[in-house]
Amino acid sequence: MFEQELDLLKRRRRFRTLRTMETGHGPRVTVGGREMLSLASNDYLGLAVHPALRDAAGAAVERYGTGSGASRLLSGTSPLHTRLEEALADFLPCEAVLLFNSGYAANTGVLGALCGAEDLILSDALNHASIVDGCRLSKADVRVYKHCDLNALEKMLKAESRYRRRWIVTEGVFSMDGDIAPLSDLVNLADKHGAEVYLDDAHGMGVLGEQGRGTAAYCGVEDRLTLRMGTLGKAFGSYGAFVAGRRDSIELLVNRARPLIFSTALPPAVLAASAAALEIIGSPAGDVLRARLHANVQTLVSALRDAGWAGLTGETPITPLILGPVSTALAVADRLFAQGVFAPAIRPPTVPEGTARIRFSVMASHGEEELGRVGALVDREALLSCGNFHHDG
Ligand SMILES: Cc1ncc(COP(=O)(O)O)c(C=O)c1O
Repeated sequence: MFEQELDLLKRRRRFRTLRTMETGHGPRVTVGGREMLSLASNDYLGLAVHPALRDAAGAAVERYGTGSGASRLLSGTSPLHTRLEEALADFLPCEAVLLFNSGYAANTGVLGALCGAEDLILSDALNHASIVDGCRLSKADVRVYKHCDLNALEKMLKAESRYRRRWIVTEGVFSMDGDIAPLSDLVNLADKHGAEVYLDDAHGMGVLGEQGRGTAAYCGVEDRLTLRMGTLGKAFGSYGAFVAGRRDSIELLVNRARPLIFSTALPPAVLAASAAALEIIGSPAGDVLRARLHANVQTLVSALRDAGWAGLTGETPITPLILGPVSTALAVADRLFAQGVFAPAIRPPTVPEGTARIRFSVMASHGEEELGRVGALVDREALLSCGNFHHDG
């Protein structure tokens, strides 16, 4: 029935399959019976296998069982939900926090609920698909500005003044490039033009800033955002997401956000694991993990620089090797896989046409030596000479 569509995907080298990880998400994983170095997980601090999270999840199952039974607005809200929301609000700090079932649900829920037909969304060109889908679900007009280009953004703000609210929507750490949004200047611009800022901090929360309070803390703009979203499935090693802001915006989300209203609430084990993660992230133990993560990032980036790759900043755990053609990215990913490194190719439409890449993602629990060895596997000259490489950067 769908042969033609599938054929087209295959011919365009866009066909994807699911690969089973036979182990948990540590720095080494087993794929197809082979142990490999994984550079493909967003569990940046290694908390997904931390004993405190396992214990908390186990105890929550003992006490509350496995399911949450209903959506939050029916009978799905447990003390674990409210306690985690309060703890997150204290941590950030902010007036109120609302949990969502995932970052995808949060972005589609917030933009769909708060951005109406009288509003304008200004969205960074490299924003995540969940923001793109949130923009589509909202009734707002949407304009896309060139990645992190504040001049382009200001031109749009000047040209588009007739709206009830104008929302600037950006990621804190861009998920496929690893660069950090210029939040301080962006917030100044928003203030100057009376615009709102919605920050998706999926990859910054837990990792950047004092106590891991995220990209807004790192850039010194924590109290100047309208709303920010953090995920619990990446540095928190658990699952779900939260949105933080003023109490009135959270109350409106409770009343309007469809992924919250029409979906079964997060289950007890997940909530308890997230709460245990939060305790670690905000403590000195969290600082130790972040220092280790940062050192590991520097090790990988310097190995990649030695292998001939320029322009890598090492500011965040995400480092892309932008290769260009899909065929090149697939060939390099296969080559890495054959040599025991799991770092899949990222292709359009996840990234723009012509920028297929390998995305390396570092964890605090990686070993320095194993990261140092990766450079030799992606030596730029060697890739160039294998004839399947057309990158001009
Ligand atoms: C920037 C960004 N926002 C949102 C999401 C979605 O988060 P989740 O995986 O919790 O749905 C992701 C992750 O995939 C992401 O990278």
